[in-house]
Amino acid sequence: MKFKNTHKDHQVTDESIYKSRRKLIKAGLIGGASVLSGSSMALTLPKHKTNPSFVIDELTEERDATTYNNFYEFGLSKSAPAENAGSMKTEPWTVEIGGLCEKQGPVDLEKLISNFQIEERVYRMRCVEAWSMVIPWMGFKLADLVKYCQPTSDAKYVYFETLYDPQQMPGQKGRSIPWPYREGLRMDEAMNELTLMTVGMYGKKLPNQNGAPLRLIVPWKYGFKGIKSIVKIKFLDKQPVNSWQAIAPQEYGFYANVNPNVDHPRWSQATERRITGGFSLFNSRIKTQMFNGYEDYVADMYQGMDLTKYY
Ligand code: MTE
Repeated sequence: MKFKNTHKDHQVTDESIYKSRRKLIKAGLIGGASVLSGSSMALTLPKHKTNPSFVIDELTEERDATTYNNFYEFGLSKSAPAENAGSMKTEPWTVEIGGLCEKQGPVDLEKLISNFQIEERVYRMRCVEAWSMVIPWMGFKLADLVKYCQPTSDAKYVYFETLYDPQQMPGQKGRSIPWPYREGLRMDEAMNELTLMTVGMYGKKLPNQNGAPLRLIVPWKYGFKGIKSIVKIKFLDKQPVNSWQAIAPQEYGFYANVNPNVDHPRWSQATERRITGGFSLFNSRIKTQMFNGYEDYVADMYQGMDLTKYY
């Protein structure tokens, strides 16, 4: 896949340059303009604001973020996605757009992406299983994609589906989840400036185990909202049921906002094990923050809602 080059002064960099740039970005010394490198593509990313919430944390090691995964289509263990997803064919890739919007039908992903600005953002990611990572994603705003699709005034939700292909995704031969994996967002959540459709991480294309070639990232919600390998986007007037809600509605709701005050029925959500500086069982346990620390960006959307009921 090629990305649209949005800068005139495009350049290619190698990984060491990328890493040293990351250190500078982290230190707040340069803006987020950075360079995506890979075997077949070069992309200079547009500047994004160096919002401290996006850059202060110590990054999770790339190796940990790409080998400790949840992607049930490739098996139930944390190591299975990295072991089994490599052969999934992600190019070419087609996304079907439909439901209550003007744009309808299949779109080639590469063409679709060429409409949007790709940027890099470092986000804290909190898994419902109480571990967390800090990951530099590259992507474009879901808000831009929504505008491109021109939803009608009846559209209240955006719904996503993962590829269903048991030949390529052996986990789909079992019944751990009613396939395909499904997710949804309320329209205001989809339009929120934090919500990112990602195509890369650590300056490279998304590895298959992390949801190549297109994956949703919603950093104030538990990680399961981040549906991987998306092939369908639909605009709906009714709230869809997401996969985990379908499996265990008493444990997983539609909203899935990170909330240290609402425990999972089987464990506390007050703290999390932050995986940085190499993966180990002794990684530091830190307090989980309301909306994963993104309260300033998102709390308004949930004013007046009982978050113990809408979990
Ligand atoms: N998307 C699909 N299609 N299948 C999955 O099993 N797992 C979810 C989410 N997206 C999942 C998925 C869960 S439970 C988590 S925590 C995150 O992906 C994990 O993302 P990561 O492996 O990139 O950390």
